[in-house]
Amino acid sequence: MTALGSQGSIGCAAPRPALFTAYPRLAAHIAHLPLGDFPTAIERIPGLLPGGCELWVKREDRAGLRYGGNKVRKLEFLLADAKRRGAGSLITIGGLGSNHVLATAIYGAGQGLSVDAVLFPQPIADPGRAHIRQNLLAGLAAGLRPHVCRSYAALSWTLPTTYLRLWRSAKAQASALTYVSGGGSNAIGTLGWWSGGLEITQQIERGEAPRFDAIYLALGSGGTTAGLLLGLGGLVPVCSEIVAVRVVPWPLSTHAAVQRLAGAALQHVGAALDVRFSLAAFPRLRIESRFLGRGYGHSTPEAQHALSRAADLGLRLDPTYTAKAFSALWADDQAGRLRGKRVLFLHTYSSQPLAVAGDAALGLRSLPAWLAAALDRG
Ligand SMILES: Cc1ncc(COP(=O)(O)O)c(C=O)c1O
Repeated sequence: MTALGSQGSIGCAAPRPALFTAYPRLAAHIAHLPLGDFPTAIERIPGLLPGGCELWVKREDRAGLRYGGNKVRKLEFLLADAKRRGAGSLITIGGLGSNHVLATAIYGAGQGLSVDAVLFPQPIADPGRAHIRQNLLAGLAAGLRPHVCRSYAALSWTLPTTYLRLWRSAKAQASALTYVSGGGSNAIGTLGWWSGGLEITQQIERGEAPRFDAIYLALGSGGTTAGLLLGLGGLVPVCSEIVAVRVVPWPLSTHAAVQRLAGAALQHVGAALDVRFSLAAFPRLRIESRFLGRGYGHSTPEAQHALSRAADLGLRLDPTYTAKAFSALWADDQAGRLRGKRVLFLHTYSSQPLAVAGDAALGLRSLPAWLAAALDRG
C-alpha cells in the first residue's frame, strides 16, 4: 500500500490525516487522498438546549469545500484505495436521497472516476422530499449514473446485475471497477473516522476543546461510530460515552455491527500498527433506538422540532440523520440527564451549498417517471 498525494502521485507533501500523525508508520502502508478541509472546528454553541448542558459542535458539516459531512473522511481512504488498485469506475449503494452516494459522486468525479449507484426506496414525503430531490439533482449534476429500485426486492437483482455489467465493461476497457460499501462503511472507510476520533483527541490535547462527557451522533451503516471508538480509545480517555442514535432499524446498526467494523479496520492496518489498545480507555457505546420513528427516512415530531430549534442557531440539520441524533440529545438534556455535563454533537450533514444542474426539469427527466412525479409533488 502506498501514500498518494491529491493527484494520486506518490510521496507528494500533502495535509496528513490525524491517523498518520498519531501512527506515522501507517503512512507508508495505507493509501490516502487529501480531499477535505481538516481539522474541522469544535465550537461552543451557547443557549440552544433547555436543560443546562454545555453544548459543543464538531463542524463536520464543513469538512469539504465541494461537499461536507461525515463521508469526506471515509472517501479520503476509500478513493485512494480504489485508485491504487487501478479503478476507473465505482459502484455504490444507498437510499434515494443518500448523502453517501452524493459525496461519492462529487469526490469520485473529482478524481476522474465514473460513479454508478444502485438506489433503494425511502419515503418520498415532506420534509424529506426536498432533501431527496436536491441530492439526486446534485448527484446527476456531478455525473452520477443512478439505477433506481422501486422496491427492496428489486435490490437483490439490480445490484448484482448492474455490478456484473459494469465489471465487464471496465474489463473490456482494461480498467477496474471498485465496489464502495453502503455508507462508505467497510474496513477502509472506517479508517476515516478512526482518524476523525484521533483528530478530536488531538484538538483536546492542544487545548482547542475540553474533554467531553458524551458525544452524540447519528448511527447508520456504522463506520463513523466504529472509527470514532478506535480514535477515542487511546491511552488517555477524552470522552466517557458515545451515544449513537439509530436511524436505521435492527438488525442493522447494532453493537455487533459496529464492533465488526472496528475489528475489520484494526485487521486492515494489521502489523503496521505497533500500538496496543487498552479496553479501559474506550468510551462506553450506547446505541439509542427511541428516536428512529417508523424507520429510515421517516421523520418524527421530535426530529422536526430539533431541526427548527437548531436552524434558529444557524445549524442546518437534515431530517434523516442529524435531526434524529439531535432530538435524542435534546430529550436527554430536557430530562435533566445532561445537567452540568459537556456534550459534543457531531454535525455530520454537509452545510455547503450544492451545485445543481441549471435545468432541474431535465435532470428529473433522466429518472424513472414515477420517481420524477413523486419528487415534483407537494
Ligand atoms: C448526514 C449523515 N450523518 C450520519 C450518517 C451515519 O454515518 P454511518 O453510516 O457511518 O453510521 C450518515 C450516513 O449516511 C449521514 O449521511
